[in-house]
Amino acid sequence: MNWFKLSVIIAVLLPVYYYLDTYVLPTLFIFDTEVLQQIVNDSLAIAPKDNTTALFVEINRRLREVYGDKVNEFNTDDWMFNNAGNAMGSMFIQHASISEYLIFFGTAIGTEGHTGLHPSNDYFYILEGEQWAHKLGDPKPEIYRPGDMHWLKRGQMKQYSMPSTTWALELAQGWIPGMLPFGFADTFFSTLDFKTLGRTIYFTAKAMIENMLRGKF
Ligand SMILES: *[C@@H]1O[C@H](CO)[C@@H](O)[C@H](O)[C@H]1NC(C)=O
Ligand SMILES: *[C@@H]1O[C@H](CO)[C@@H](O)[C@H](O)[C@H]1NC(C)=O
Repeated sequence: MNWFKLSVIIAVLLPVYYYLDTYVLPTLFIFDTEVLQQIVNDSLAIAPKDNTTALFVEINRRLREVYGDKVNEFNTDDWMFNNAGNAMGSMFIQHASISEYLIFFGTAIGTEGHTGLHPSNDYFYILEGEQWAHKLGDPKPEIYRPGDMHWLKRGQMKQYSMPSTTWALELAQGWIPGMLPFGFADTFFSTLDFKTLGRTIYFTAKAMIENMLRGKF
C-alpha cells in the first residue's frame, strides 16, 4: 500500500463516517432519556426502600412496557462482573445493539476509576447510593444521588467513584462497538478473568444479534 492509495481510502471513508455519524446514527436510537428519568423516579417512589432487587424488577417491568422485547427480562442469574478503567462493579445487560446499551450497573462495596473516553453519550441514573465525579479543573466533586442523572457527554472523560453501595441504570447512545475495547482491556492487562469475559461477550453478542434480527441496530 502506498501513501497515495492510503490517502484516497481515507478521503473516501471520512465523509462516509461523517454521514453515518451525523445522519444515520441518531435515527437508530429508541431509548428516550426523559422516559427513562420518569421510570426511574416513579419506581423510586414506590419500590421498597430496603430491597434493591425489587427496584430492578420494577424498573425493568416498566421499561418492557414501553420498549417490549428490546429490553431483556431481568433475572438475578445473569449478572456479570465488569472491570473497566480500573473500576470494578457488576452489570445486567437489559439491551445491547450497535448504537445503544442499557444496563443496571453498580457495586455492593464501592469502587473508583476512569470513565473511559467514548464515542457515545452516557446517561447514568442513580438508583441507590452516590456517584462522585471529578471533572478536570473543578476542585470540588460533582455528587449524584438517587433520582439524579449524570450525563457524561460524548468525548468527555472524568474520574469517578461510588464511595460505597451504589446502583444505577445506565444508557449509552453512540458507537457501542467502539466502547468495547475499553470494556475488555482490564481483563487482558489486569484481571485475566476470562470467565467474565466469556459471559460479557456471550450476553452482549446475544442481545446485539437478537436486536439485529428485530431490525434494531
Ligand atoms: C426483594 O424483592 C425480590 C423481587 O421482588 C424478592 O424476590 C425478594 O424476596 C425480596 N427480598 C426481601 C428480603 O424481601
Ligand atoms: C426525578 O428526581 C430527581 C431527584 O429527586 C429530580 O431532581 C428530578 O426533577 C425528577 N425528574 C422528574 C422528571 O420527575
